[in-house]
Amino acid sequence: MDGSAASKTGKAKGADGVPASWTRIGTVVGDASTSGYTFILRSLQGKLGDIVATRVEVPADTDGSKRVATVWGRIVDISRTNPFFPAEAAQELADENVRFLDTVLSGSRDHLEAEVLILGTTFGADPGAAQLSPLTYPVKPSAEVFYPGADDVRRLLTGDDETKKPPPAKLHIGTLIARGDVEVSLGAKQVVSRHLAILAMTGGGKTVAARRIIRELIELGYPLVIFDPHGDYLGLAEKQKLFPKSRIRTWYPMLRVRDGNVGAVTELIQKMGKRLTDAQQQLFLYLLSNTPVKDGEEAAAFIQRMIDHATNISAKKKKGEHVDEEVDSIRLPTIQAAKRSLEFVLANLQQMKGNNERLRSQERFKGYDFKEMPDPWDAPDDVVAPGLVSIFYLAGYDHLNQSAIVSMVLEALFAHRSTLSGVIPPFQAIIEEAHNFIPSRSEGTDETPSLPTIRKVITEGRKFGTGLVLISQRPSRLDETTLAQCNSFLVLRLVNPNDKRFVRSVMENLSEQDANILQTFGPGQGIVSGQAVRFPLLVKVKFDEDLVSEAIGDEDFIAEAGRWKPDARRKANAESVARNLGGERPGASAGTGGASGPKAGGSSAGAQAKKKPGRRGRGGLKPEF
Ligand SMILES: Nc1ncnc2c1ncn2[C@@H]1O[C@H](COP(=O)(O)OP(=O)(O)OP(=O)(O)O)[C@@H](O)[C@H]1O
Ligand SMILES: [Mg+2]
Repeated sequence: MDGSAASKTGKAKGADGVPASWTRIGTVVGDASTSGYTFILRSLQGKLGDIVATRVEVPADTDGSKRVATVWGRIVDISRTNPFFPAEAAQELADENVRFLDTVLSGSRDHLEAEVLILGTTFGADPGAAQLSPLTYPVKPSAEVFYPGADDVRRLLTGDDETKKPPPAKLHIGTLIARGDVEVSLGAKQVVSRHLAILAMTGGGKTVAARRIIRELIELGYPLVIFDPHGDYLGLAEKQKLFPKSRIRTWYPMLRVRDGNVGAVTELIQKMGKRLTDAQQQLFLYLLSNTPVKDGEEAAAFIQRMIDHATNISAKKKKGEHVDEEVDSIRLPTIQAAKRSLEFVLANLQQMKGNNERLRSQERFKGYDFKEMPDPWDAPDDVVAPGLVSIFYLAGYDHLNQSAIVSMVLEALFAHRSTLSGVIPPFQAIIEEAHNFIPSRSEGTDETPSLPTIRKVITEGRKFGTGLVLISQRPSRLDETTLAQCNSFLVLRLVNPNDKRFVRSVMENLSEQDANILQTFGPGQGIVSGQAVRFPLLVKVKFDEDLVSEAIGDEDFIAEAGRWKPDARRKANAESVARNLGGERPGASAGTGGASGPKAGGSSAGAQAKKKPGRRGRGGLKPEF
């Protein structure tokens, strides 16, 4: 049956139906099972990670007949022994300090035993493209093992029916580690309608891999939203000319109070503030709900009006004038404390805004066209549109605020998709440093507004064309339930045992052997698995040198330290530091270090706090880069 089908393809086949382009590289030995086998490998004819094939007769489904299956497998381990050079001989050479070459012993009779993990079987003419099914009967010891042609392996990896028009869209990410002639691609449909996690320790090549995938999606004109805490993706804007059909836009965050997010903003204000007593909290909530919101105003302006409101209440109380019943019983010191908390929040917000501004105005970003982010409720189509790449540059904001911004933007965009408002097309969101946006419970999830939003998107996004790419260097700090819902994974170098264990627990089909090699990967080498590929593959990600940005590349701190000259205002700084150390005020960095510290709004909280040493609230006033 198999032979006759093979003859119809017109491909050159040997007498046994094996394509003539396939090289014989070894012979099966020892115990073979339906999940794996070992074979003796011809010297230097195969290596770890290679896809190999062998053939076996298996019983047909019903009538007792048999048919020939092509069994595909991956070499997961190779051991090498020389029976003609036993340990005793080695011991003797060591003791006598004699070189091996000076003896008559044979060094060329090595046994190379390769262990193969079976990936599946195909039947019929085209060994790669056909339906893959499990092996139901073990491989025969003595069977020949082949090194298949690149085209056959590529077809096997994608499982595509290449006769289909148009062919399914692919995201080309690189090649097999073991075979530079076999390209590895992800199914575009699976990536955009499901979710992908890119995990690796720092320097493993996550950003390079993400840029590769982003580039492929840009080529497809797919709408992208990138949340970028460090500016790793800003370089795409600089490379706009490489993407003539797309538009790359860079946004800076702006917290404005709108009908759609008033709840989220007030929650953020509450979380950013100091811990309050019950009475202070009562006033705080009163101020929140009794200070009218002006639609579209900056959150900072809203907070300032809350502060003014509190000042007003305490002034009235001092004069014995009438105040609302709800705040009538609240004492003056309580009002002062709640006010201080609000001033602290305001100063914090202003400082982060200043940080972001300062970072954007660095010399290296000259020529970048940063714009205030559009309102994702009212103008989602400014953020998501065909061929549009929206990069949100979040640097300078602390984790809580970054998380709130991601939450507000995603929440609004997803609402548009899930209510089928028809305003925006499907899109893919890319979230760098995902451990800050979907932290595990042990990281303190109640501080993270983006967690419930991302959970919702990851669970329901598939139905509404909202896909996520989550990128993280600390997988074990990610929320497990969320990560487990990623349908595809690209795992590059990982060394930390906790991270490796965690990755194994969320990736169903990662074998122990695969987990063990994670730490041996070089930059850009990794395992890709899940729905976007047919089975787990060892991949070398393609490095797009032309996407490397001059502005974003690694800073040369050695050179910078060499050039560095003290600031002319150094003396003034020293004095202010000395003054502040005496008072140990929170957020000492706010007014001392940067070229443009927080604006006027920041000073009141700073001044307040100066008089009250040790009153450091959660979040602090440190710049976050
Ligand atoms: N596919 C690749 N091929 C060749 N070199 C690579 C590849 N990927 C990464 N590298 C090298 O490793 C460096 C770090 O890569 P990258 O910035 O992507 O790491 P990362 O995992 O994002 O690190 P971090 O966690 O610090 O952000 C790159 O500058 C490049 O030199
Ligand atoms: Mg990175």
